[in-house]
Amino acid sequence: MSTRVSADETPFTPVVRVGGIPAGTGSTYEVAGRLVAVFFDGERYHALDDLCPHMGASLGSGPFTDGVVTCPWHAWRFRACDGAWCDDASLRVNVYPVRVAGEMVEVQVPPADVISR
Ligand code: FES
Repeated sequence: MSTRVSADETPFTPVVRVGGIPAGTGSTYEVAGRLVAVFFDGERYHALDDLCPHMGASLGSGPFTDGVVTCPWHAWRFRACDGAWCDDASLRVNVYPVRVAGEMVEVQVPPADVISR
């Protein structure tokens, strides 16, 4: 019998110091065995799965403007607030809670076996 960990029980993981991501950009970090793209819009941080669902480019290296990240390979665009593809919101990438704790930006990424698609 296995025990599943709910997302609420998942600890936050520090990924970067506050100020480490310039406004309007993102960076990619490995958290809980997943690649997570963290973006800073100048006021808030956002965390999404890094891999583009089209062909697997790193979204963390894509341009980030007005809350939307553009995939660097074929320009699919995703909203940072909810991970929705701008052309069809039925397709999404996972988004994760982000918080600032002291000097660190932290993300809450559940283990892969509790993330539903
Ligand atoms: S890999 Fe992202 S749009 Fe093609």
